[in-house]
Amino acid sequence: MPGNFEADLVFAGGGNYLPSADLWMVIDVLRATTVMTRWFELGGTELYPVKTPELARELVKDLRGRGSSPLLMGEVNGIPPEGFDMGNSPLDLTYDVIRSHYCGVMSTTNGTGALLEAESSGCPVMAVCFRNYSACLDHALTIGTRIGILCSGRKHRPSWEDTLCAGAVIEDLLSHGEVLLSDSARMALTLWQNSGNDIESCVRKSTHAQYLTQIGYSDDISFACEIDSSTVVPMLAENEERTVLRAVSGSARPYHRENERVEPSEKVSDPFEELLAYTRKKA
Ligand code: MLT
Repeated sequence: MPGNFEADLVFAGGGNYLPSADLWMVIDVLRATTVMTRWFELGGTELYPVKTPELARELVKDLRGRGSSPLLMGEVNGIPPEGFDMGNSPLDLTYDVIRSHYCGVMSTTNGTGALLEAESSGCPVMAVCFRNYSACLDHALTIGTRIGILCSGRKHRPSWEDTLCAGAVIEDLLSHGEVLLSDSARMALTLWQNSGNDIESCVRKSTHAQYLTQIGYSDDISFACEIDSSTVVPMLAENEERTVLRAVSGSARPYHRENERVEPSEKVSDPFEELLAYTRKKA
């Protein structure tokens, strides 16, 4: 049943103003929301986004005091801060890393702050990237019709890759019905629709992609551009003592240890269908 929707977009976090929306889709393709999605793809259960490395270290200490063993992850200028267990490369996340933690604390330059900014709106918030944007939009449309997209950007300025991904979300939304676009949403859509067919080479034009390549993370860009390779929908949990991301129930497919890079698989929206698909595969 086609609907009537609205799409609004904020080009970069840190503006301290978010227009009214039914929910917020936060995008940080390189690399925060790609890492968050990977975390849940591999079986992670909780991920605490924190604004600064100092606050992240304090939270880890607190969680350890409560008997948890969180993985401390993130970056400053793209590399792991002192004392962190890992940086912010999705390729550093493996089945074994997740198995020994399940819970993580994450602090990045833009992405975690953007999630916390979106949370201040009081609306549902999800972490979106190229790998999971269709699954996220499908879930978003079960929540409301006024879709807010917050691009993390870079240091309060628009980012090429986040805006491209926002355009892909908006183009997907158009396939569901009539959409009233804000000017910023229309700009992102136009950018996406004129980006050509090779999304990875388009994303590699961005300043952040070039910087990540310079410091040795070129493979992260290829990984981040594997469009729709995940059904995971990471959402900020509500009514919790602390801000925490979890995967929407049924969205995280059973991970396959023998294949760390979970192959793109047919989207399964119904948990029972997912279980059926999984048992069929194991048979
Ligand atoms: C960000 O928060 O902008 C990214 O996570 C930065 C990065 O991973 O290099």
